[in-house]
Order: sequence, then C-alpha cells, then structure tokens
Amino acid sequence: MPPTVFGLAPLQGIADPFMRTHLSALGGMSWCVAGFVRVTASDLPDSYLLRFCPELRTGSLTRAGVPVQVQLLGSDAERMAHTAARLVGLGAGGVDLNFGCPVRRVNGHGGGAALLRNAGAIERIVAAVRRALPSRIQVSAKLRLGWDSPDAAVDIARAAESGGASCVALHGRTRTQGYDGVADWARIGMVRQHLRIPVIANGDLRTPEDVEACRRASGCDRFLVGRGAIERPETFRVLAGLEACFWSWPRRAAFVAGCAEERLADGQPPEKVAGLLKGWLVAMGRVEPAARELFRAHRRAESVDELVGALRTDAALVATHASGSTPATPGVRTATATTTASMSGKESGRWNSPS
Ligand SMILES: Cc1cc2nc3c(=O)[nH]c(=O)nc-3n(C[C@H](O)[C@H](O)[C@H](O)COP(=O)(O)O)c2cc1C
Repeated sequence: MPPTVFGLAPLQGIADPFMRTHLSALGGMSWCVAGFVRVTASDLPDSYLLRFCPELRTGSLTRAGVPVQVQLLGSDAERMAHTAARLVGLGAGGVDLNFGCPVRRVNGHGGGAALLRNAGAIERIVAAVRRALPSRIQVSAKLRLGWDSPDAAVDIARAAESGGASCVALHGRTRTQGYDGVADWARIGMVRQHLRIPVIANGDLRTPEDVEACRRASGCDRFLVGRGAIERPETFRVLAGLEACFWSWPRRAAFVAGCAEERLADGQPPEKVAGLLKGWLVAMGRVEPAARELFRAHRRAESVDELVGALRTDAALVATHASGSTPATPGVRTATATTTASMSGKESGRWNSPS
C-alpha cells in the first residue's frame, strides 16, 4: 500500500506564513498550499508575492522543510501562465490552481468555482500553466465536485488531467453546497477511478477515523486537511501516527500562546494578533469547550496581553492534568457549516471569507 500523506489545505487569511511555520513544525504534514494569489490584468509586484509566500526565498520550504505550493486564482489562461512562471522564477516549487472558490464576487469575474461550469476552460488554463513551467514543477488543480451538481465531476477532473495536471485535489462538495452537509467521499472515489493521475481527497477530515472512512469510500491515500488543522493544531501529528491522542486543552493553549508570542516578537501589531487569536479561539471552540469558554470570557479584550495571559493560565493547568491528552475522538461531520461561520470571522471580524 502506498504511504498515506497529509497536506494542509489552502485557508486564505488563516494559514498565513506564520501559521504554516507553526503547524508544519509540529510534524506529520507532507506539504502545504498557501492561499491564493489573484491573477488580474496587471502584474503584482515581486515584493507582494514574496511577502505573501516568504517560503519562496527558502526553496519553497517552510522552516521545518515542508514544501509549500502557491495557489493562483483567475480565469485568463495566459495571465495565469505568466504569473505561474514569475512565481517559479521567484522560487516556487509547485503551483496549485483554484477552481473551487465559491465567493460570489470571484465567481462573478469567472474565477474559482465558476470554472467548474466550463471544463474546457479548466483544461485550457491547466495546459497554459503546464506549458509555461519546467516539467520538474508540479501543477495541481483544486476542484469541487461541480457547480450545483456532482454529475460532471468526472469530466471536470478529466479536463484538469488532459491539461497536464500532476494531480487534483477534490473537495467533496459542489459550489452550491458551500460548506453545508457532508463531503461526499464516495463521489471522490468515483472520480478517482476515471483518472490516471493521483486524486487527493478533501473535506471534513478531522480525525484518524475520518481518514479511514474516507480511504475506504474513495480509495485515496493522499488527503488535504483544512479546518480540522486549525481547530486542533496537532491534527497532522495525530493523523500521521506521531501521536496517539489529541492534545489536552492546556497543551493546546500553550502552543497557541507561543504562536501569538512569536508573532508579537516579529513585530506584528498587537491588535492584529489579538484579532487572529480570537478567530483561532472561535475555531478551536468547535471541538473544545474550554476554548469556547475562554473566548466568551475575553471576547471584548482589546489587549493581546489579556488573551495570551488567559491562554497561559489555562496552559498552566497542564501540570495538574492527568494525561495531558485526550483520545482521538471522531469529529462531528454534520457541524461543518457552523465551523465555517466561525472561521469566516463573524465573531472576531478578522478571518477572511472562506474560498
Ligand atoms: C477560511 C477558509 C479559507 C479558505 N481558503 C481557500 C483558498 O484560498 N483556496 C482554496 O482552494 N480553498 C480554500 N478554502 C477551502 C479549503 O481549502 C478546503 O477545501 C475546505 O475547507 C474543505 O476542507 P476541510 O473540511 O478540511 O476544511 C478555504 C476554506 C476556509 C474555511
């Protein structure tokens, strides 16, 4: 059986360079995808691209040595190809193409999930990007099952394959579904059977039990994990078998406090760090009552010190905690809409819209 590998899904505004550094340092993550660079008629300056993905300067690897792909969002094949070539010139080791973003404004411009209605356009974009890059550079496509029905999922994925994609990542929902309901892993498996290139399963993978069920339903051995990794930062360690159990709240609180302190030490504005922390607490609160409680008690905090202090207080409980970790319990696959609402920042106003 091929080895099972786990990648961090692109999470625009959440999995920023700091988050990628922190999560990849924990281990268990084989690659990660940075959020998207929007491709328009005018070139973004190199300085923007390097700020967006500083890993470009270090061989497209995080500090822990985990490969990072940059994602492109747009609908003009030649502009996408041009931007991909520029990114590779700056050091990108792989380029991912976004065909799944459900945001209305993006779709209104013909980008993201809007392309799911036009398999020919997907093929043309992938082919143009493929032609523009050296063969050693991986080009992947991130897809949903379709626009409003999964019926064309095979055609869409085949279009990416015909264009020359090295692999496709497939979120098991349509654009119309957004984040409602549950990801259809069996449908991902149907698509996989019609493709020669690897298919990476995505959607609602939070626990080893989820991964096992998805593997059985889809036949996939590569998995892309998004929200689960923010809810429980140690997720990749647990999925990869480096850890038998999810962490206790005190241990997680210590990790999160440390991440915030690193941001502050790097000179990030305290109010920005406070906003990110609140967003993270909301996301973690989905699976951890103590995170919910901490957020409720400090939701009006204006000072980041108050939040970090509260996290450090919770972290200090670790000494009195029996095992320091909790069993890897199955996730609640029906609550995804709530999670997305949390992570899109209704509470904190800091997290960007999900794509
Ligand atoms: C806040 C947020 C931001 C996202 N940003 C992107 C993005 O930039 N590009 C993309 O292809 N998908 C993006 N997604 C979708 C995720 O990569 C992933 O496909 C989706 O969340 C399902 O996986 P999960 O259930 O493991 O979270 C985003 C999702 C969320 C919730």
